[in-house]
Amino acid sequence: MHREMTEIETRLLQIWDPTGDSEKIDQAARLLREGKTVIIPTETVYGLAADALCPEAVAKIFAAKGRPQDNPLILHIDRLETLPELVTGLPEAALLLAERFWPGPLTMVLPKSDRVPYLTSGGLETVGVRMPAHPVARAIIARAGVPLAAPSANRSGSPSPTTAAHCIADMLGRVDAIVESGDCLVGVESTVVSLTGETPRLLRPGAITPEQLRQALGSLEIDPGVWEQMNADAKVSSPGMKYKHYSPLATVVLIRGSSEGYARYLAENSAQGDCAISFSEDGELGGIPRFCYGGREDHAAQASRIFALLRQVDADGYRRCFVHAPGLEGIGLAVYNRLIRAAAFKIIDV
Ligand code: TXA
Ligand code: MG
Repeated sequence: MHREMTEIETRLLQIWDPTGDSEKIDQAARLLREGKTVIIPTETVYGLAADALCPEAVAKIFAAKGRPQDNPLILHIDRLETLPELVTGLPEAALLLAERFWPGPLTMVLPKSDRVPYLTSGGLETVGVRMPAHPVARAIIARAGVPLAAPSANRSGSPSPTTAAHCIADMLGRVDAIVESGDCLVGVESTVVSLTGETPRLLRPGAITPEQLRQALGSLEIDPGVWEQMNADAKVSSPGMKYKHYSPLATVVLIRGSSEGYARYLAENSAQGDCAISFSEDGELGGIPRFCYGGREDHAAQASRIFALLRQVDADGYRRCFVHAPGLEGIGLAVYNRLIRAAAFKIIDV
């Protein structure tokens, strides 16, 4: 969904070191306090931030992204003391996860307090909160003095931005400032876990893995939306999961199986205008243009490269891309979860 908006002037702020670049941190924080939008780096992906408690500011996020209004935003905080005022009741599990995984790539969904506007929570009675680890993000949140709502800083539907250049490509003229601060380390969005039911529930896989959560919590359910397509009318636990997501313009075809099976499938089915995103072990693939997203077992490398490569496929004008599907261990599940959406839930076994 894509609504047109009037172009605004976008300031570019390069911030590498939160202490040394303190004046630019101030500028970013001031804009945020004034109800403006600023794209900030985080360790997962870049986020399009605004004052989470100010509906007028939050409305600008939805407009800039072209985001459906029932898709809730994640609140970003820089210290644990901010959490109690944003939620009602703090289960033991939340404190445990905060202690274990914050600051870091974990979002917890909890019952929201009255301070969080419904525009921010997508009309829900719950709110997702995370404390990012990126030093520039934390310095900006601290200086702004308000929790920041920040979805991934891409246009709705396109791959999440993991470099400042991606943010500039998608959002120049649509936000008040973009903080440029290098590439995001993790490369896929945070793990989202809901603590609102009887059993903790994984809504979106990320760098904090199901194994880690299970070890900390004792139990964990995995929402079926992590694996399967959710009906657009169904009441889903994580509204973001029902939308087509992460898609480049090129058609993504996800292929699961051995290097030999993958190579054979490509030899038999590829045509002019196709390319491949494959493992380093996959070899040359008979001359089809190929991007490597890491070793077969190197899920961290795959996570850090996948969104940039999906954008590259479009930039180079390919019409179709055969992606060798990652295994589901560790952060591989998060990479798979994004790819199966990019592939519109179709996977070919070879
Ligand atoms: O790593 C991240 O989480 C990045 C960076 C910028 O922090 N942010 C991010 O936000 O990925 P976004 O808006 O692109 O994705 C948020 C996801 C959506 O799928 C949304 O539906 C889900 O989290 N979510 C947010 N609040 C929720 C809630 N109260 N209940 C259920 N799901 C929620
Ligand atoms: Mg997103």
